[in-house]
Amino acid sequence: MSLRIRRRAAADLLRAAGVGSPEYDADELLGHVLGVDRGRLVWADDLTPGQLQAYDALLTRRAAREPLQHLLGVAWFRHVELAVGPGVFVPRPETELLAGWAIDRASTGSTGDGPVVVDLCTGSGAIAKAVKDEVPEADVHAVELDPSAHAWAERNLAGTGIDLRLGDMADAFDDLAGTVDVVTCNPPYIPLTAWETVAPEARDHDPHLALFSGDDGLDALRVLATRAALLLRPGGWVGAEHADLQGESAPAVFAAAGRWRDVRDREDLSGRARYLTARLAR
Ligand SMILES: C[S@@+](CC[C@H](N)C(=O)[O-])C[C@H]1O[C@@H](n2cnc3c(N)ncnc32)[C@H](O)[C@@H]1O
Repeated sequence: MSLRIRRRAAADLLRAAGVGSPEYDADELLGHVLGVDRGRLVWADDLTPGQLQAYDALLTRRAAREPLQHLLGVAWFRHVELAVGPGVFVPRPETELLAGWAIDRASTGSTGDGPVVVDLCTGSGAIAKAVKDEVPEADVHAVELDPSAHAWAERNLAGTGIDLRLGDMADAFDDLAGTVDVVTCNPPYIPLTAWETVAPEARDHDPHLALFSGDDGLDALRVLATRAALLLRPGGWVGAEHADLQGESAPAVFAAAGRWRDVRDREDLSGRARYLTARLAR
């Protein structure tokens, strides 16, 4: 069988299993097995029997809705690579928008030597690592509550100079109170009641601590609004991701707190509400 026919059959298998991006995933896994970039598959030779066995095994796992990134062992986030697997939330492309906003703010908004940036709920360390990668002069701090996710972050942030801590964002970084330029957070935000609507890749493989946050999904965001107000310097910025249905309710948490100005919600390229930003009142 030619590689072209194998690719089509693999994509058909994944499509039938309900995978959202069957061609892409089939090719990524094939490239992984062959050790070549997905873009070079057209020039690749057919699989050896051993490679075919490995590819079939990966396709079977993907068809059972194991996340692609778990099978590859890595996720890309902006310009950085992150090791991921069971026990840590797989970073999502949509969060690159929040990270990009934080990078812009950190590049322009510091009052001191280098900007001080805190990433609460860091998971794999994705946002923290991307900020340090693109703003090397930033003094970046990150915290994660789940010991298993923290272990992945430790691996991903080794050698970056980022200050990573294990703990609850509710009382993290007392030592930085009033000094931080930018706080980022991609908190858990799915309402407990929405359990059944979550895709199997997330529901069965992302840690539940990373997904769910009370009846309306906003419990963690309320903690963030309090903690960010303590950490930021006057005029410092907070940015937080939320669900697309929370485009009004999430900013309302900050608007109601009375400590914030310039509270606004931001959309992704397809017009979906994605994250809020706000500035600590002086
Ligand atoms: C949606 S994931 C985001 C991970 C990462 N920031 C990203 O964007 O890929 C939320 C993370 O917050 C962590 N978390 C939940 N509650 C927390 C808390 N109170 N303090 C610190 N981390 C928390 C979870 O364990 C999970 O790793």
